[in-house]
Amino acid sequence: MSLFSSIFASKKNSSQDLIINGNIPKHVAIIMDGNGRWATKRHLPRSAGHRAGVESLREIINASIEIGVEYLTVYSLSSENWKRPESEIKFLMKLFLATIKNELRLLMEYGVRLRLVGDRKSLPPEVVEAYEEAEKKTSENTKLNFNIALNYGSRQEILDAFKILGKKINSGELNIEDICIKDLSDNLYTKDIPDPDFLIRTSGEHRISNFLLWQISYSELYFTKVLWPDFKRKHFIKAIDEYQKRNRRFGKL
Ligand code: FPP
Repeated sequence: MSLFSSIFASKKNSSQDLIINGNIPKHVAIIMDGNGRWATKRHLPRSAGHRAGVESLREIINASIEIGVEYLTVYSLSSENWKRPESEIKFLMKLFLATIKNELRLLMEYGVRLRLVGDRKSLPPEVVEAYEEAEKKTSENTKLNFNIALNYGSRQEILDAFKILGKKINSGELNIEDICIKDLSDNLYTKDIPDPDFLIRTSGEHRISNFLLWQISYSELYFTKVLWPDFKRKHFIKAIDEYQKRNRRFGKL
């Protein structure tokens, strides 16, 4: 029985009734898209969509722990998102700051380890400070590795890794013939984090949008029309059920 059918065969959706027989993706990455459209559909400001998006995120973190997902990486702000109106960026920064301050206690209670993935240089210092403090406080937690991609852009990340390797070549520390795939992986923001097994994008868009381009080489991709603020535990379970039906071959027959 797959995860989805086992859950629906059970009386209620409580964690006790959750019988997990299938293969659980170790690392799930999510492009949380559709907050703005969710709000516009309700004649609300876009900020209301982002607030509602935080609720979905909380639910998906809980569900990940319950199901046994070990790594969850969410795309919270791309390096391209800076092109949005200044008022929206300001709101998002305030939201990121308030959320980490409000949720740190729960992250500790649930045993969640938080990591910030992205270019920290152009983020407001108070945001970086709050997230770095959370990284430090949660560093011993082991229930779930929760990675927040903030001011993240995959091409820049790969370019930065090239530059690090280039410097090592120039200094004679590294021989160009010896460079291997692991050398590049080890110089990405996501070093020490395994590649995602499963990538989910909400809101009906079928794009990757510069997210983890190197890391998702063999990930299973899943696109759903559900807007992020509507994406809840049952949608997550349904997505994982779909993952369990996939046959991952990694290029083999
Ligand atoms: C995409 O929707 C969503 C974002 C750019 C922001 C996502 C942020 C959150 C859900 C809050 C997460 C908070 C923390 C602390 C990690 P969109 O605005 O692109 O929606 P649209 O495509 O409908 O306009």
